[in-house]
Amino acid sequence: MAGRDYWALALTVCVGSLLVAQADIIKYASVGQLFVHELKREVFQSEFEPFLKHYGKVYNDPMVFKCNKQQFPDLPRWLRFTQRHPYDDGFLYGTPLQENLGKNIIEIFVTNKRSYETFKERLVINVGPVVKSIPYQAEFFIEKRDIEKVLPADVQEEIKQDVKLIWNTDNLHFVNITSALDRGGRVPLPLAGHNEGVYVKLGSEEPYSKCLLRLQTMEHQRECKAGGKIIGDCSVCNNPVNCVTWCRSTLIDISRPVPPAPVPTVGSGILEMGGEFDPPVSPPGKNYIPDYIVTIIIPLVFAIILCLILAYVMCCRREGVQKRDAMTPELQLYHHHTIHGNSNELRSMAQGRGSFPQPLSTLPMFNARTGERAPPDYPSDSVHIPLIMAQQEPNVDTLPR
Ligand SMILES: *[C@@H]1O[C@H](CO)[C@@H](O)[C@H](O)[C@H]1NC(C)=O
Repeated sequence: MAGRDYWALALTVCVGSLLVAQADIIKYASVGQLFVHELKREVFQSEFEPFLKHYGKVYNDPMVFKCNKQQFPDLPRWLRFTQRHPYDDGFLYGTPLQENLGKNIIEIFVTNKRSYETFKERLVINVGPVVKSIPYQAEFFIEKRDIEKVLPADVQEEIKQDVKLIWNTDNLHFVNITSALDRGGRVPLPLAGHNEGVYVKLGSEEPYSKCLLRLQTMEHQRECKAGGKIIGDCSVCNNPVNCVTWCRSTLIDISRPVPPAPVPTVGSGILEMGGEFDPPVSPPGKNYIPDYIVTIIIPLVFAIILCLILAYVMCCRREGVQKRDAMTPELQLYHHHTIHGNSNELRSMAQGRGSFPQPLSTLPMFNARTGERAPPDYPSDSVHIPLIMAQQEPNVDTLPR
């Protein structure tokens, strides 16, 4: 099985390289009329696997397309490409202009996103001259559509049927189809029922119907501005998603030739003598003194005053200095009285000291670390030793020697 797949793949690659030399796709377009070419994934699928098909095994591969004008990095200006998703078909569409007459060779690179095989194809669009003039044109805005949903031929036909009823004519041609995003529209929320919107431009040789002519009246514009019920709305939609927004429909009447812009008169090419150059008078000088006072002097004065206040507070009004100066005789008397009282209190406490033992730390020769009263050997001062021994408390053991 794996071997068979391998051979199939090898064959595909061989055939793929052979197919490069395959005949181009040839299409015809004419100036001023919409051209649409659908890049069908289905078609390219069989190009990728020309033999697997015979085994009844057909994939549905995701594919992406890259299109450009031959020997150019991008498409010609009049041609646009759109593909929503690798599982969707792509579309090349646009309206050629007079300057695009002739052969437009487009290279299409197809990449199979499953196998990563690529395939190149050439599309030749022969743009012919204007077949018939389409002097009466009208543009309609379809709110509930995305560009790819309008480009397939059957949908175009549906829209044309609706417009035929509005226009009262069978003579209708598509002139242009544009996504609202290309006209400054906003990307809609990714929710059902929110679409980008599409502008479709149709044209006819027949003059506008009475109903369409209403689009040009002041009354219609007033109604649209007011935003209420539109009385003159004669749009028809058999499929609700194809309904046009009547207030965003416009008529483009090119039946009357536009008068050419007046040709600019060419001078002699020599500047006339203009006389002497008179420089413009400079504006009067401005007095900057008030500005200087307001922005520099006043803040500076404030800063100096604040500095002085701070210096005075720091040097002359310190707490101690103030107390000595400000002490009244009564206060002095009170101080004296309290000192006197305190010393009396201390004295009475000293009298009652004999009744309880002195704290150890107040005793001489007390070793704070070991708690020893007298050092074991204290030969230098024999006079003091008996004194310490005499002070020994009876309840405290002498440390063993
Ligand atoms: C078609 O629509 C596109 C996008 O708005 C615009 O650039 C182009 O000029 C239109 N072509 C014609 C022939 O109106």
